[in-house]
Amino acid sequence: MPSTTAAHEVSRSLLDTASYSRNDIDDLFSRADEFARADLSTGYFKSPRHRVLGFLFFEPSTRTRMSFQMAASRLGYDVLTLENTSSSSVSKGESLSDTVQNVIAMRPDALVIRYGQSPELDRLLPQISIPVINAGSGTKAHPTQALLDAYTIKKSLGSVEGRKVLIVGDIRHSRVAQSNFEVLRKLGAEVGVCGPREFIPLTGLPSQIKVFESLDEAVSWCDVFMGLRIQLERHCEAGLPEESAKSYSNYFESFGLTPARLKILKREALIMHPGPINHGVEFPTDESVMTDSRNRVLEQVSNGVVIRAAIIEKLFSGKDQ
Ligand code: CP
Repeated sequence: MPSTTAAHEVSRSLLDTASYSRNDIDDLFSRADEFARADLSTGYFKSPRHRVLGFLFFEPSTRTRMSFQMAASRLGYDVLTLENTSSSSVSKGESLSDTVQNVIAMRPDALVIRYGQSPELDRLLPQISIPVINAGSGTKAHPTQALLDAYTIKKSLGSVEGRKVLIVGDIRHSRVAQSNFEVLRKLGAEVGVCGPREFIPLTGLPSQIKVFESLDEAVSWCDVFMGLRIQLERHCEAGLPEESAKSYSNYFESFGLTPARLKILKREALIMHPGPINHGVEFPTDESVMTDSRNRVLEQVSNGVVIRAAIIEKLFSGKDQ
């Protein structure tokens, strides 16, 4: 029972970053700057019209879900939330697409949605009748994360253009990496990757991406070190043997940000991670990385609120007059 589609509504959606031009990203960053400068208590975020956003999180989330909620709240909007499948009628056999259609039937003004591998939702979402923001879909895309990452780099280093960004870890299963490849290249950054051989796709990486065999060489090359979690939950979907989940006990020494690598990382470089972090895997168990002056992990989270506020506002641009 697909909803009818209005082309102008679909164009407002953010299903992946392909739909944003470099100008769109620059405008978004300027608006996020205005939100960031605002005293939140003045209600500066408040929109002239009240709206209700439908949140559908079919996979767990802390940062994305709560920062979208915070952004919506600062804008003066209400949120209608389905937080997981076990507390919804999906647990009684209802399909994801029927669930989406039922929530749309309650007439929210827009949807924010997170889901795993789901060809049915990949087909449905571009056709639905209200704007949709992708809050992370399978291994495909996490556009708002990539936008807040690029915004964090711009705020910390003054520009993204020409910066060398190293993404380390499970590239093959990471939607964050996919969206970052696109946004960072659009903004003129150089992107490199490094990780266990089975996590670096042999085909399908954009040709401009530099693949490093040696993490030490990569760390001394980069202006931004971005760690990624091993996406164990996606390994079975991708056909990796289950025991591969157990074979990363030496990961930290091989691909983590060890004290020796902290030393060779440039003094003005940034340390980033989209979260959640597994301490003892990507980062050490001690506080050395989290307290390092180059660490921007919590700044990424704060920036997530203003970037998401700017994205939500953009959905309704021209509709509030
Ligand atoms: N970075 C990110 O998507 O974190 P959450 O899964 O907590 O939303």
